[in-house]
Amino acid sequence: MTQQIQWFPGHMAKTIREIGEQMKLVDFSLEIVDARAPQTTQNPQIMEMIAVKPVFLVLNKIDLADPHQVTKFINKNKDKFSGILTTDAKMGVLSKDFLRQLKNNSVFADLSKNNTAANLKALVVGTPNVGKSTFINHLAGKNIARTANKPGVTHFLYWIRTRYNLVFLDTPGLLWPKFEDQEIATKIGILGGIKDNLLASDDLALWLISFLQKNYPTAIATRYKISHFPLNNPIAALMSITSQLGLRQDFESASQRLINDFRSGKFGLISLDFYGDDYLDN
Ligand code: G4P
Repeated sequence: MTQQIQWFPGHMAKTIREIGEQMKLVDFSLEIVDARAPQTTQNPQIMEMIAVKPVFLVLNKIDLADPHQVTKFINKNKDKFSGILTTDAKMGVLSKDFLRQLKNNSVFADLSKNNTAANLKALVVGTPNVGKSTFINHLAGKNIARTANKPGVTHFLYWIRTRYNLVFLDTPGLLWPKFEDQEIATKIGILGGIKDNLLASDDLALWLISFLQKNYPTAIATRYKISHFPLNNPIAALMSITSQLGLRQDFESASQRLINDFRSGKFGLISLDFYGDDYLDN
């Protein structure tokens, strides 16, 4: 891995300040994460700020994640949140399933019981590309209306009325100022959370090849119909994929193709946060 990935534009710092100021107005928070990397796509910077109210973790893109890894994550982390819910925001019909999960949650039931206003208000946060907009759009319905707060109060947060008794305070996709661990940055890059032009796609592809060969050893060979796939050598594997795709020496295009195929689930149900058998014992 040659390139250090760093990405934190100024508006994200301002948004974080605004979230802190608006917490008193909301009843709870929904942190949307990518179900394929539910730990990696949680924002470590805002948890303390939002935990002053109940926090529900929403594992979106559940249709693309490895169900065994999702179960392990939920079993290990269920006590850290008021609830862990799962969604496939792309399938709009599943909005009802999300609401059912929320209504069956005892913390949410208490919030509803004690609420005197017409609607419950939720802050919605997430790193870029986890599907936050898709999720909100489905719950808000076709006529989504973003209502900015009074001028001068907030610039980056918007109230959105949903079709249900919920009002969302939407936030822009947020990263954090420094990735202590470049593997976190790499995974977020592969999941599409960092602008592609800031990243070296061959670095991401080589990481992804190593990861898949270790944890899902048949995924690449099956997808690209490669019979003698080089194991334990990501560079040779990338060359083999490039040639099989008919891209001659164009490793850049082959890398992008590999990453896009992963993003859209072409390798099957795969999780990037992959836990060993000892995960639940730690
Ligand atoms: P964001 O606001 O968090 O940045 O994410 P956004 O809703 O824009 O979604 C990012 C991409 O993820 C979109 O794909 C969207 O369709 C897809 N997506 C969102 N939720 C789900 C889900 O639960 N399952 C799956 N499989 N995909 C999901 P795109 O290719 O960028 O756009 P589009 O061509 O699908 O519109």
